[in-house]
Amino acid sequence: MRHVLIIAGGSGTRLWPLSRQGEPKQLLDLIDGLSLLRMSYERVRGLVSDDNILVCTGADYADVVASQLPELPRGNILGEPVGRDSLNAVAWPAALIADKDPDAVIATVTADHIIRPVADFRAALDRAFSLTEQESDAMVTFGVVPTEPNTGYGYLHRGLRLPGGQGACEVLEFAEKPSPELARRYLDSGEYWWNSGMFVWRAATLLDVLAELRPTTRAAIDELVADPARLAEIYPRLEKISVDFAVMEPVSRGRADARVVAVPLDIQWYDVGSFETLAPHLPDDRHGNHVRGLTVSLDADGNLLINQRPNAVLAVAGLHRMAVVTTDRATLVVPLADSQRVKALVAEVAAQV
Ligand code: GDD
Ligand code: MG
Repeated sequence: MRHVLIIAGGSGTRLWPLSRQGEPKQLLDLIDGLSLLRMSYERVRGLVSDDNILVCTGADYADVVASQLPELPRGNILGEPVGRDSLNAVAWPAALIADKDPDAVIATVTADHIIRPVADFRAALDRAFSLTEQESDAMVTFGVVPTEPNTGYGYLHRGLRLPGGQGACEVLEFAEKPSPELARRYLDSGEYWWNSGMFVWRAATLLDVLAELRPTTRAAIDELVADPARLAEIYPRLEKISVDFAVMEPVSRGRADARVVAVPLDIQWYDVGSFETLAPHLPDDRHGNHVRGLTVSLDADGNLLINQRPNAVLAVAGLHRMAVVTTDRATLVVPLADSQRVKALVAEVAAQV
């Protein structure tokens, strides 16, 4: 049967002070009153039954996740006692699903992207499901045409097109977070796609690959499924590593009995990780500022202005390409181009305040 797993971990510190402890990025009411998590669910809704949609998130966020996705059975929201990165966030649910449905095929989707149009995304997902059902050793990724030498993404070196695969290609190499030099070379070659961070595989294939590449993790996950009461004891001991480094890279290099293939995601795909990437998705005032809340601007353009304080106005003059974000507990001012520095700033705030 087909299943969907939404992985929604991470804290999203680069969106501070919107995000904060207990209120991570994917749960914030970010755009049009919807959270990224809710958008992610609505993208897959109806493709499989709600009984077959799972969410893996931090235990602290499980109740908020449940309130945002009331359609899902509460037992489908898996809370991790601590974050152990994406390998475990995909492997633990896969083992739980396989325990009940040994033939399960799982689409793992993220909750930190904006993807449009949704119909095209659903068609790509359906293609990936069919591919995996036909070729049981396929580990399907979704390829996005790269636009810059971003070193925060995985790169997929495209090989031959799969016969009848509607644009799907074999992947010669999956290269996660390359150096700036390699990222530039990949971009210039025109032979690479970005990895969108979503995957489709048979649960059994993932678990077999895990047994080959990470036997200790596989054994711990099996123990966990056999004895769920030991979650708080076993989970923190799991190795913290991403599925990209632990599984996709080595499989693409022939180190396990499976193969990586990519389905093109030839649609708008935005990683909403920083104020710079969030800005274009908020409404424009008449001066090219992206705004939310009560704001006034004079001779100011290209800014992101977010005012979450109910009885206050945010007013700026002579400001260009800046993020100004004010909430009831903090105010942030940073050039949009320096949005990545918010993470370091948050650490500084924690150390000093
Ligand atoms: N539940 C849970 N627990 N989810 C997690 C955890 C965890 O400990 N760690 C990460 N995730 C989830 C995130 O919420 C996100 O949806 C996904 O796994 C990827 O994690 P990121 O930390 O955002 O990874 P990344 O952005 O550095 O890289 C990944 O995504 C890129 C595209 O945005 C990789 O897959 C790259 O190859 C890819 O290009
Ligand atoms: Mg990410």
